[in-house]
Amino acid sequence: MSNETNRRDFLGYTFAAVAAVGGAASLVGMKQAWDPLPSVLAGGFTTVELAGLKAGEPITIMWRGKPIFVLKKTADMENSERDLVVGSDRFIVAIGLCTHLGCIPAWKKNVWKCACHGGEFDSNGKQTFGPPPRPLDLPPFSVKDSSIVLGEEGPEYKKIAASMMA
Ligand code: FES
Repeated sequence: MSNETNRRDFLGYTFAAVAAVGGAASLVGMKQAWDPLPSVLAGGFTTVELAGLKAGEPITIMWRGKPIFVLKKTADMENSERDLVVGSDRFIVAIGLCTHLGCIPAWKKNVWKCACHGGEFDSNGKQTFGPPPRPLDLPPFSVKDSSIVLGEEGPEYKKIAASMMA
């Protein structure tokens, strides 16, 4: 066997090895491209368990890229047509974006306060001060036992949405 043949074989094997590694890498790349992004996986329906919530301490959940506020009302918080009643508890569910220009209000002493221009929303999500033109918006949800499923339009959502339009 001549040196030239050996050299050609070596180049051939090297090329095959590089091609195999490259092929495997591109398969991994294709799989990553086909798999839904984590943000897409989180974008559909989100279940929020209400049972463990503490009254007067709203939680924030991300759903479809938006913050969602869920507040379990305390006994002394006033009733609202927007109350979601589950068992003997009342909850407010709201999209946590200020209806003025979209900042995220923070919960301070029973009020959601927007740091951007001083807007305020009460525990019912109703605007009470500053430039916000309307209450916090209502995300679609349905009730399943002691949970809500964000992204589904259940009868409770439809009732509250209709009362907010009235
Ligand atoms: S964005 Fe909230 S008050 Fe302007």
